[in-house]
Amino acid sequence: MTVEKFTALTPELHRYLIEHNSWRRDAVSKLIEKAAEGMERPEMQISPDQAAFMTVLVRASGASRALELGTFLGYGSIAIGRGLPEDGSLLSCEIDESNAERAREYIEQAGLTRRVEVRVGPALETLQSLPAEEAFDLSFIDADKVNYPSYYEEVLTRTVRGGLVLIDNTFMGGSVLEPDGDSSRAVAELNELVAADDRVQSAMVGVADGITLALKR
Ligand SMILES: C[S@@+](CC[C@H](N)C(=O)[O-])C[C@H]1O[C@@H](n2cnc3c(N)ncnc32)[C@H](O)[C@@H]1O
Repeated sequence: MTVEKFTALTPELHRYLIEHNSWRRDAVSKLIEKAAEGMERPEMQISPDQAAFMTVLVRASGASRALELGTFLGYGSIAIGRGLPEDGSLLSCEIDESNAERAREYIEQAGLTRRVEVRVGPALETLQSLPAEEAFDLSFIDADKVNYPSYYEEVLTRTVRGGLVLIDNTFMGGSVLEPDGDSSRAVAELNELVAADDRVQSAMVGVADGITLALKR
């Protein structure tokens, strides 16, 4: 029997949960939130509750080498960067030069330049150009959705045993139930693959637009 036990979020409850975590909505994060509002697709930026969740997850996992696919304005990079140890590193991949440039500025303002590198180019090419021995403890897949299945395979190969792969937007606004386009079809396809993948232990969690946590065995 499936137990239907969950609390649906209302806008009020969502605001409440954003106010009840220790994600620092400091000058930098507020600046990026404001900057995203002026972008063509502000919804691409992760939400403050997701940022809080990711910082805690990075710290709790003990990850020190991290990877992000899709930088946008660097909000998620800062969330990951803040969870890393002093000598940790994050490689964030972004196709758009102007996004990358702006993200670097915010990352600098957050005091994370030594930990976070933003590299410009198609994420798959950037990944494939890395030295064979380069591996990550934690990765966050959040770039173009049609490439999600390829990203997952490539990232998993470069994940250490016990490492964590976070896949964003695994609900696709609910459209994974009835995929209606290339992006939702690709994400729905990956959701099936991950759920049946013996190489990982996975959990899909209902934070923001759905995040799948896949832990490499
Ligand atoms: C959903 S946003 C990322 C949000 C970001 N992770 C955050 O925390 O706010 C997706 C980003 O991926 C970038 N992108 C799209 N296709 C890409 C590709 N093939 N390679 C690398 N980046 C890509 C977009 O320019 C966009 O900035």
